[in-house]
Amino acid sequence: MSTTRMTVAVLGPGGVGGLVGALLARAGHRVVCLAGERTVAALRQDGLRVESKRYGQFTAVVEADTELREPVDAVFVTVKQTALAEALDRVPADGLGTAVLVPLLNGLDHLAVLRERFPSARVVAGTIRVEATRTAPGRIAHTSPFADLELAGPADDFAELLRQAGLGVTVREDESAMLWDKLAFLAPFALLTTRHQADVGAVRDRHRPELLTVLDEIAAVARAAGAPVTAQGLLSFFDRVPDTMRSSMQRDADAGRPLELDAIGGAVLRAGAAHGIATPATARLVAEVAQSAQRVD
Ligand SMILES: NC(=O)c1ccc[n+]([C@@H]2O[C@H](COP(=O)([O-])OP(=O)(O)OC[C@H]3O[C@@H](n4cnc5c(N)ncnc54)[C@H](OP(=O)(O)O)[C@@H]3O)[C@@H](O)[C@H]2O)c1
Repeated sequence: MSTTRMTVAVLGPGGVGGLVGALLARAGHRVVCLAGERTVAALRQDGLRVESKRYGQFTAVVEADTELREPVDAVFVTVKQTALAEALDRVPADGLGTAVLVPLLNGLDHLAVLRERFPSARVVAGTIRVEATRTAPGRIAHTSPFADLELAGPADDFAELLRQAGLGVTVREDESAMLWDKLAFLAPFALLTTRHQADVGAVRDRHRPELLTVLDEIAAVARAAGAPVTAQGLLSFFDRVPDTMRSSMQRDADAGRPLELDAIGGAVLRAGAAHGIATPATARLVAEVAQSAQRVD
């Protein structure tokens, strides 16, 4: 990164992208949000409006367009996986050059999609730990006391610019381990809370045998993929989180929105098959969640 004032595109300025984009704009970077026409109009008129316990209430002036029309230093990809294919049409592959491209989607498989589509860009895998909700176009409620990214390095200079904007950033060496550290908790959490329409407290109390089986399967897959994850470690994390915690997959299911089921559950099943690890309980859960989502449709 040669300049300290970056031009950053944010593809999908929702809960995650809106918060990251607003913080970068507030720190003095030029931010171009890429979105549909309604959101572009709202952003051009009112900017990104953030309400956050951590960062306060503020409005960030950003640019907005329906497609990327110029070179940028970095692109954050922050749509949901279910919208990724359509959203990528807003970023011409030959216009991106050697920009840093950071996806913050949950899951694994979007990385291969991005690397194939943008071969000259530097795709830096990222994850984010945050609770942020797009309450209306351009309006973001950030409800967690943290907004912590992990980036698979090398990405030290870029990470430092993000830290200066107020984000927590850790640079990790091993991309696969980083992604699996997140997915190994997220997948059982999202699948079980959605399947049983229950918060995490009810899952660990009423569905503990199923929880233990699924954690065993997913930890085995994660270890085969290179992450030092154990079922016991995952279980103790499950047992520590607040009773009332619900997953965003569950919120999407309640609202009748498309689920990131393939990105989260499908990714575990595909990796299990690739590493020769049986995942029957996880497969059953994925199928049951898919069936109940179809019934809602
Ligand atoms: N939110 C969280 O707290 C959180 C935490 C960790 C990880 N994640 C992950 O982060 C990713 C993003 O989640 P999110 O909660 O930020 O989603 P979100 O609030 O629904 O935001 C997605 C954004 O994508 C935009 N979008 C949809 N289709 C588009 C298209 N074709 N072109 C351009 N923009 C499009 C939406 O635009 P409109 O505003 O116009 O609808 C919206 O602004 C997911 O993979 C999620 O699992 C989220």
